[in-house]
This record gives sequence, structure tokens and C-alpha cells, in this order.
Amino acid sequence: MKIYVYPGSFDPVTNGHLDIIQRASKLCDKLIVAVLVNSSKKPSFSLMERVELLECALKDIRNVEIESFTGLLIDFMKEKRASVIIKGLRAVSDFEYELQMALLNKKLDLDIETLFMMTNINYSFLSSSSVKELARNNGNIDGLIPDCIKDKVMEKFKLHH
Ligand code: PNS
Repeated sequence: MKIYVYPGSFDPVTNGHLDIIQRASKLCDKLIVAVLVNSSKKPSFSLMERVELLECALKDIRNVEIESFTGLLIDFMKEKRASVIIKGLRAVSDFEYELQMALLNKKLDLDIETLFMMTNINYSFLSSSSVKELARNNGNIDGLIPDCIKDKVMEKFKLHH
């Protein structure tokens, strides 16, 4: 069974993530969307909230599971018997950091591959942090995140005004 892992903070999930998840899920038997618990980025949404938003966004995709992890991604991969790490690349600016992580993970475990997928051109400008910036300032986030999570995301930032 081919098990792939798509790791990230998902703070919150965007249509860019969703596009990668839909495409990656077709390449494997099971895709685990792995939510990093303790991101150094200090997430705006709690782990539970990030998982709930993902559940809503991914409810129509059959072979996707949502899990959370702490510690090293490579250890989570081994625990899940997963062989491939999926990463989305938006622009050259993502590449340097992602290459470093991929090489480091390769050094830690030769059997695990990192597979880079080019983001859909329509979402190449999109990031969780820009969605949050818009939501905080009452900007229009239509089409940037899945419809079913829009209200929850807007609500979160309204409270902090
Ligand atoms: O959505 P993000 O924040 O860009 O995702 C980054 C993530 C979770 C993929 C990355 O930080 C990660 O793999 N963290 C786990 C810790 C780890 O394995 N570090 C060693 C590789 S640098």
C-alpha cells in the first residue's frame, strides 16, 4: 500500500493546499495530511481548530486521513509506514528552504522520498498568512479558502478586533 504524507501547519488550510491534496491523493492509496502540533510560527488556530477546518475542507476526498504530529516528520513517516513526503512549491522563493529540508530528511532516512508538486498557477500567490492578513482587515477571502471554512476563519479574526 502506497502511503504518502502531506505535512504542514494548515493555519488555516487554503485552496492552494486543497489543490495539492486533491492531486496528491490520486498518486497513492492513502494520503495522510499531517498537521504539525508545535509550529515555531505560533499558529493562530489551535490544533483542534486546524484539524476541524481540514475535516470540513476534505470531506469529499475518499483516501485522505488527517493526523497530527510532533517532533520530526521523518519519525512520523516511519511510524505510519509512509514512503513519500509531498510538498507544494509556489515559486523559486519556496525552493531553497524546501530543498534544505528534503536533503536533511534524505540524510535521516534514505528510503523516504520528497516529491515536489508545482502549485496550481491560480494559487501561486496564496499563503495562510496572507489569508489571515485579509481576514484581520475585513478583506475579501472568497475563492482563497474552501467555502465551508470561510465563516469560521472570518469569525476568528473579528473577535480580535
Ligand atoms: O506549513 P508549513 O509550516 O510550511 O510546514 C512545515 C513543516 C511542518 C512541513 C516542517 O516544519 C516540518 O516538517 N516540521 C517537522 C520537524 C522536522 O521534521 N524537522 C526536520 C526537517 S527541517
